[in-house]
Order: sequence, then C-alpha cells, then structure tokens
Amino acid sequence: MSYDNAPLVKTDNGNPCHIAIIMDGNGRWAKKRFMPRVMGHRAGVKSVKNIVEFCNEQKIEVLSLFAFSSENWRRPPEEVSLLMKLFSVTLGLEIKKLAKNNVKLICIGDRSAFPSELQDKIAEGEAVTHNNSGLTLVVAANYGGHWDIAQAANQVAIKIQTGVLSNAVITEALISEHLSTASLPNPDLFIRTGGEERISNFLLWQLAYTEFYFTPTLWPDFTPTVLQQAIDSFKGRQRRFGRTGDQVLAKTNSL
Ligand code: IPE
Ligand code: IPE
Ligand code: MG
Repeated sequence: MSYDNAPLVKTDNGNPCHIAIIMDGNGRWAKKRFMPRVMGHRAGVKSVKNIVEFCNEQKIEVLSLFAFSSENWRRPPEEVSLLMKLFSVTLGLEIKKLAKNNVKLICIGDRSAFPSELQDKIAEGEAVTHNNSGLTLVVAANYGGHWDIAQAANQVAIKIQTGVLSNAVITEALISEHLSTASLPNPDLFIRTGGEERISNFLLWQLAYTEFYFTPTLWPDFTPTVLQQAIDSFKGRQRRFGRTGDQVLAKTNSL
C-alpha cells in the first residue's frame, strides 16, 4: 500500500487492525522471585494464551508476537534448548484450541534452524488452522528484521535471474511482497513490555509508520487490562503519515 492511500481510520471502532508485541521481561520476572529464568518463560506462556484469547474476542485482525529473535541464540545453550522445548510443547498443547477458536497460525522466521520435530509441528499447526477466519496469530521465531529484508531481496534476485521477473526495477512494493509478512497489513500498534525501549531487530521494514507503546510491565504480568490501556493510547493518537495535523482532521471530517 502506498502512503498516499494510507487510511486514517483502520477499523470502525478505531481499534488497531494489527498489534505487534515484543514480549520482554520473563527473565527479570523470575529473578525478582528468586526463581530460574525458565520459570519466567513458563509464566510468559500463560500471558500469551490470555492475550491471544482477548485479541480474538476483540476481533483484532492480526496479533504478532516476538517469541525468539535471531540474536537469542547467543543465550546460554540450556536456556535456548528450554525455549525450543517450551515452544514445541505449547504448540502441541494449544493447536487444537487455536483451531477450534478459529485462530489462524502463521510462523515467521528462519525455521530451518529448528529441530525437525519442531519444524513439523509448526507446519502442522499452520496447516490445520489455514482456513480459519478469526484472529491471525503471527509467531516470530528465529526472526530478525535484517534476515527478513535479506531473504526478500534474495527471492527477488532469484526471480530476476531465472526470468520469472523480467523487470529488474526493485520497488518498495516488490520488497513488501516478498517479506515474510507479505499477506498481512503492517502493524498499527507496536508494544514492548519489560521497560526497554528498542526494536531489537523485530519487524524493521513493517514498523515504518507504526505507533509505539512501551510499558514497564514484565511480560508474565501483562494482562488484557494493560493491553487495553495500550489500545486506548493508540486510539487517542493522530496518525499523519507525513501530512499535517489539519489535513488529517479535514480528511477525517469528510469521511
Ligand atoms: C523475553 O524475555 C523472552 C525471550 C527473549 C524469549 P527475556 O528472557 O528477554 O527477559 P529479560 O529481558 O531477561 O527479563
Ligand atoms: C527481544 O527480546 C526478543 C524477544 C522478545 C523474543 P530480548 O530480550 O532478546 O532483546 P534485547 O537483547 O534485550 O534487545
Ligand atoms: Mg529481554
């Protein structure tokens, strides 16, 4: 979508259409309780379930959750393997419920680095929820914004080399169409829990015009009430997409 046509109102009720969250603070949540970090990750899964359920009920179209970054491999091997296990077990336990609740699962990121059993579970989860029409749940695992842009560029290069694309002019739209989020609208609202105020290589391209919301709440303490506060903050903002505030008001009034 070109910014010239960027809509000023996304949904009838003013809710964001796509919410993207960096779920941060699991480790600190556990540390505060003198528990191993793994307990924080386990507690974080509970928040994921509550937030997915809430977004589905609220008819949010897309919820993207950053579960494991391409940089998280730098963590101690025990923590990495535990995160893999937790992802795999949670997928196994939750997929039926997601399917029943009409949630469509999409995983983005370089899954080739995962154990083959986990890759199979991801593929199965996506397949059984493929035709669902409720919330689209995007789980970013072994995801990096740099990786995403590079893999899109690679796909385009291959298409040009093999003659699938005859026009070698690379446009913004062409890159967007090859990102892992190609079928999705860009996020309207970005939330990071845990108090840090950075993107940590999440959806770099896609966040170009997203509204940001940072909260000190640690991810395991994140509830639908805190999410609603973020949504309310979003609703109170004027999105200008480069225009002046007066232009936006005039356009909104004429809608
Ligand atoms: C986020 O919580 C979860 C993942 C990165 C998988 P952290 O584990 O980063 O928690 P903190 O930042 O150490 O508190
Ligand atoms: C970002 O959190 C990745 C996920 C939440 C999956 P990190 O805790 O890894 O981010 P940094 O390293 O502190 O920036
Ligand atoms: Mg962290």
